[in-house]
Amino acid sequence: MKLEKNPKDNLRISASDDIELGTYLEIAKSHNLMGNTPEIDSKIQTIVIFDFGSQYSRLIARRVRELNTFCEIINFDSDSSIMNEQNVIGFIFSGGPNSVYDKNAPVAPAWVYESNKPILGICYGMQLIAHQLGGKVISGQKREYGHTVIYKNKSSKILDGIDDNFTVWMSHGDKIESKPIGFETIAFSDNSPNAVISDENQKYYGLQFHPEVAHTTNGTKILENFIFKICNSSGSWTSKNFVSQTIKNIKQRIGNDKVICALLGGVDSTVTAALIHKAIGENLTCIFVDNGLMRKGEVERIRDIFTKNIGAKVIFYEGRKRFLKSLKNIIDPEEKRKIIGTEFINIFEEVAEKIGTVDYLAQGTLYPDVIESTSNETGQAHKIKTHHNVGGLPEKMKLKLIEPLRYLFKDEVRLAGIELGLSKQNIYRQPFPGPGLAIRIIGEITEKKLEILRESDWIIVNEIKSAGLYEKVWQSFAVLTNTQTVGVMGDKRTYQYVIAIRSVDSQDAMTADWSKLPYDLLGKISNRIVNEVNDVNRVVYDITSKPPGTIEWE
Ligand code: XMP
Repeated sequence: MKLEKNPKDNLRISASDDIELGTYLEIAKSHNLMGNTPEIDSKIQTIVIFDFGSQYSRLIARRVRELNTFCEIINFDSDSSIMNEQNVIGFIFSGGPNSVYDKNAPVAPAWVYESNKPILGICYGMQLIAHQLGGKVISGQKREYGHTVIYKNKSSKILDGIDDNFTVWMSHGDKIESKPIGFETIAFSDNSPNAVISDENQKYYGLQFHPEVAHTTNGTKILENFIFKICNSSGSWTSKNFVSQTIKNIKQRIGNDKVICALLGGVDSTVTAALIHKAIGENLTCIFVDNGLMRKGEVERIRDIFTKNIGAKVIFYEGRKRFLKSLKNIIDPEEKRKIIGTEFINIFEEVAEKIGTVDYLAQGTLYPDVIESTSNETGQAHKIKTHHNVGGLPEKMKLKLIEPLRYLFKDEVRLAGIELGLSKQNIYRQPFPGPGLAIRIIGEITEKKLEILRESDWIIVNEIKSAGLYEKVWQSFAVLTNTQTVGVMGDKRTYQYVIAIRSVDSQDAMTADWSKLPYDLLGKISNRIVNEVNDVNRVVYDITSKPPGTIEWE
C-alpha cells in the first residue's frame, strides 16, 4: 500500500487500481475506519503484523482480534505511513518460508526497530530479529516439525502465568546459534536451545514455535501476554465500540452527501446498509439488483428484510435478462466475475444518476476479500480469485467507495450485526458470493442450468436445515458440474447432469474442511435431487478441503 500526501487536500491516489482506491479511502482518509478529519485520540490502537510470506499471517490476525485488539497485516516492505495513521502499539513478525540467508530473503524495515515499540517475532520472524540485530542463525541439523515440549528456564513477561513445560507446535529448519546482545534465553527444547528469547528492555521477543495455531498449548496466553502486558492494549476493539465509532465516523465523513448501497442479501451487505442507515437515515438509498443469479426465494426474502426490518429506502432493479446476455458464452470464472462486477457497478451508476446527486457507493467488502485480492508486489502472496466486490470493479468508477467492514472478519461482522439488533435469521445466514449462482455453474450459464441449480440448492439447504446443521456448517450448497453421465430411470437410459453437494466447516472462509455430513442425510439429499429435479441423474459429494481446493468451485 503506497499512500501519497497531496499538500493541498491531503487526498491523492498514487495507485491506479480500485483496491488501492478503497484502501486509500479507508486508511488514509479515515484513519480510524471512517473518520474524515482524523483526530489524535480517534486513532485506533493497532498491532501491525508484518507478513513474511507465512501461511499463518491471517491466523495471527484473527487471534489478535479475538483478544479485542485491532491489527493489520502489511507487507514486509511497507513504508512507515501506518505509524502516522494509527496508534501502533506493537509489531508481530510472521513466520515465512525463507531462510534469513536466502538471496532476496524478506527483511524488516529499519523504521520498525527505530520506533521503539515492542516486537514479537514468530519462527522466521524471530530468526530475522536475531539476524538483523547481530545474532547468528544457522541451518539446524535436525528439522523440527510438529509437537515439541519446551522448558522455561527464566521468567519473562511473555511467558507469564504459563507452566514450566508445555507443548508447542514447531515448523522450522534454521535455528539461532547466538543471540544478539541484550537477549536472553527464556525457554528451550531438545532441538532448539533458544526456543524463546527476549530482550526485556527493548521489549523484543522471539518464539521459535507458532503461538497462533491451536496445537500450541498456551498459544493464546502468550499472545495475550504480548498484547496486554507488553503492548498495553486497552482491549477496546469490541463490536459495541466498532458500531458506535463507525456510525459516528460515517456521519462525520458523509455529512449531507448521498450514499447508495448494494444489497446482496447476505450478512455483509445487510450490516453495511444497517450501519449506514443508522448514521445517515434517508440519505442512504439501497439498490437491490435482481441479476437472475440468486437462489430460490431470495429476491422475496431480501425485499422483506429491507422494507420491513431495516426500514431503509430500497430500489429494486430487474436485471435478469441483462446479466444473462452479458454472460452468454462466458466460461472463464474470472471473466464471469469481472462481467458481473462491471454490470453491477454500471447499474448502480445508472440508478444513481436517476436518483440525482449521489456521492458514495457502499459495499460490504470484508478483510479476507481485501487480502485475497491483493497480490503483493514481491510475490509473497498470490492472487487466488478476484472477488467481484473488490478487484473486479471497473477502472473508472464515478462514485467514491465506502466500505465500513473492510477490516472485519466474518465473525466480527456477525457480532456487529447483533449489536445493531438485526434478526438472527439474517445474521446467521450462510455466506453467498456476490457473483451468485454464476460461479456455481461450471461452464456457460443458461436459464435452464440456473433452474436446475436453484432446485437442487433448495433441496440441499432445506435438508441441512431440517437436520439442524444450517448454522453449524459454514456453507452448504449445490454446484452444477458441467458433466453429464449415463443413468437409468424407469428402464430408460438417461444422460443428464451431475450435481455436486458442497458443504464446508470454516471459521472465516480462509481455510475450510469438508463437513462430515451423516450418510443418511447425504442419501436423502441425493434421492430427493435425482427424483425431484429434472435433468439430474447423479449426485456426488465434494470432499476437498481449502486449501488445496477453494470453497466455491470457480
Ligand atoms: P473461496 O471459493 O474463495 O470462497 O474459498 C471464500 C468465501 O468467499 C465467497 N466468495 C465470494 N464472495 N464475491 C464474493 O462476494 C466473490 O467473487 C466470491 N467468491 C467466493 C465464498 O462463497 C466463500 O464464502
